[in-house]
Amino acid sequence: MQLVLVRTVTGLEHLAAEELADAGHRVVEVSKRQVIVEASPEVVERPPLVADDLFEVYGVAPDPGRTRAGLTAALREAIRSVPIARGAFAVSASFQGPRNFGRYDVEDLVGERIARLTGGRYHSRRYGVAPPEERSDWRVVLDGKTLWVSRRPYAVPLHRRTWRRQTVRGSLHPPVAAAMARLAGLAPGHEVLDPFCGAGTLLLEARALEPRARYAGVDRDPAALEAARANGPEGVKWRRGDARRVDDPVDRILTNPSGTTA
Ligand SMILES: C[S@@+](CC[C@H](N)C(=O)[O-])C[C@H]1O[C@@H](n2cnc3c(N)ncnc32)[C@H](O)[C@@H]1O
Repeated sequence: MQLVLVRTVTGLEHLAAEELADAGHRVVEVSKRQVIVEASPEVVERPPLVADDLFEVYGVAPDPGRTRAGLTAALREAIRSVPIARGAFAVSASFQGPRNFGRYDVEDLVGERIARLTGGRYHSRRYGVAPPEERSDWRVVLDGKTLWVSRRPYAVPLHRRTWRRQTVRGSLHPPVAAAMARLAGLAPGHEVLDPFCGAGTLLLEARALEPRARYAGVDRDPAALEAARANGPEGVKWRRGDARRVDDPVDRILTNPSGTTA
């Protein structure tokens, strides 16, 4: 079992926790924008669709509170053994509540400690210089109760989907689309329609969730359809049409329409 820190969009914490529990992982804690899970190793290959990002936890300590001395001691306690990796890495930190230190102070303390333990090359974000493309990303969270030190097992955040080549104005954030698809209660054999499909985000996330349903996407804008076809060349029937004239018999309509349809 690996302790895993899952980050979410605000409001989707419980849906992500439910998705993780359905996949057989043990949810330990749900808090603001975060779910902590005791996960089996396959969580990395099959991460929750509703998650924004996922990190493997390598250090835990009680949240040290306000002072920098407390922070230094807590980091010493939390970061004892981390995977050896000599490449470049960056650290991103966030915390809640008032502190006598800033996020770059946390990041630099963590970065310097990890560099000492691993021989890796720490890239500080303090000076606004872009980090090297090839790197691993560490995430530190002080949530008011616990200090978490974790590392992303992927090169890019989870919400950056490999299928997404194009977007249109109003395209959904993929984890939000995944959350909508979960709430739709899709089942095998369902006919699912998005009459304002845009670049296809909703149907492509829905198909990842329930591959045994059938999907159709309609949009009146040829550029949107081109984007949808580029994003999902298979598995969804995309067609041009006016939502006001679509009368397909369907089990579910999954959509985020435009403000105007005229
Ligand atoms: C907010 S976007 C949908 C974004 C999509 N969910 C995504 O994530 O890419 C709304 C889409 O509705 C389309 N649209 C607006 N009026 C329409 C109509 N009457 N019939 C069909 N499509 C329409 C627009 O062309 C636009 O692509």
